[in-house]
Amino acid sequence: MLEQIKNLIAEVEAFNPADAHELEQFRIRLFGKKGEITLLFEDFKTISGDEKRLVGKEINLLKTLATQKIKDLYEALKTGTRKAPELDLTLPGYPMQLGSRHPISIVKNQITEIFKRLGFTISTGPEIEDDWHVFSALNFPADHPARDMQDTFFIQSDPDILLRTHTSSVQVRVMEREKPPIRTISPGRVFRNEAISARSHCIFHQVEGLYIDRNVSFADLKQTLLFFAREFFGQDTSIRLRPSFFPFTEPSAEMDISCTLCGGKGCNVCKHTGWLEILGCGMVDPNVLENVGIDSQEFTGFAFGMGIERIAMLRFGIRDIRLFFENDLRFLRQFQSAL
Ligand code: PHE
Repeated sequence: MLEQIKNLIAEVEAFNPADAHELEQFRIRLFGKKGEITLLFEDFKTISGDEKRLVGKEINLLKTLATQKIKDLYEALKTGTRKAPELDLTLPGYPMQLGSRHPISIVKNQITEIFKRLGFTISTGPEIEDDWHVFSALNFPADHPARDMQDTFFIQSDPDILLRTHTSSVQVRVMEREKPPIRTISPGRVFRNEAISARSHCIFHQVEGLYIDRNVSFADLKQTLLFFAREFFGQDTSIRLRPSFFPFTEPSAEMDISCTLCGGKGCNVCKHTGWLEILGCGMVDPNVLENVGIDSQEFTGFAFGMGIERIAMLRFGIRDIRLFFENDLRFLRQFQSAL
């Protein structure tokens, strides 16, 4: 309330109407039946004690100031003694509220920055893709359930054109275009036909990575991801790899990090396991390399992919993924101080 009064005082002091109409509008806004000052006096009745004294002083000051100002302005307008509003360059400027980065951008930048230090370049590609780049080149069998209408948004009736379900499609494009060594990450927006809930959304963001060269081994993959986990979540973070399956990697694994909240002891966030799953990874399947014209006898590689929302939720303690897409300023403004 005090804040509101102070803001109003500043506004009254700075008020400089162009004509009588604007002045009258201002008077009504403050002193009308539902005017801001009228309402403030109503609210004032409901507070008590020390606060009442403090607020009382300010509210009276506001009322006196505003009454006097309006009276003076009416007088000046009537007698024509008032000068046209002038631009006073000596007045302090109005504070302008700074915007802030979206938490997804903040986390995306932090992730890409770590991989850039390891020599990874950043590559981007189209969100509307074809079957080849999202599925076929990546060794998805023709009847793989991930191609099903349930997971993928297709464009109109052409089953060949779809919204990418992962940014691995960008890596296919890079492999088609460039010769190894390839070391690149592809951040971007992806789409899946999933029910929207606190934990999943039909739009989200990924950072996927790809490294192809001679003699790239699983040990390189593990060390790269350990480095990333420690840089991002803190030096005492541990990782564990669990066997998994992706059509485009063999062997495949899912990586967990020790729980960022309890450090591995077990808590609500990690469902008492001590571990949090953060990404999928594996050695690029030789079929994929052959599909894009890279000799799988000569080259090997690893790939990984993670969801940015999930990582941002862990980092900032956000419990509902939908918040990222609602653009509620009360949510977004909380990240003003984060990078
Ligand atoms: N593309 C996988 C996904 O979207 C993630 C992944 C990338 C897994 C690379 C392994 C290797 O879920």
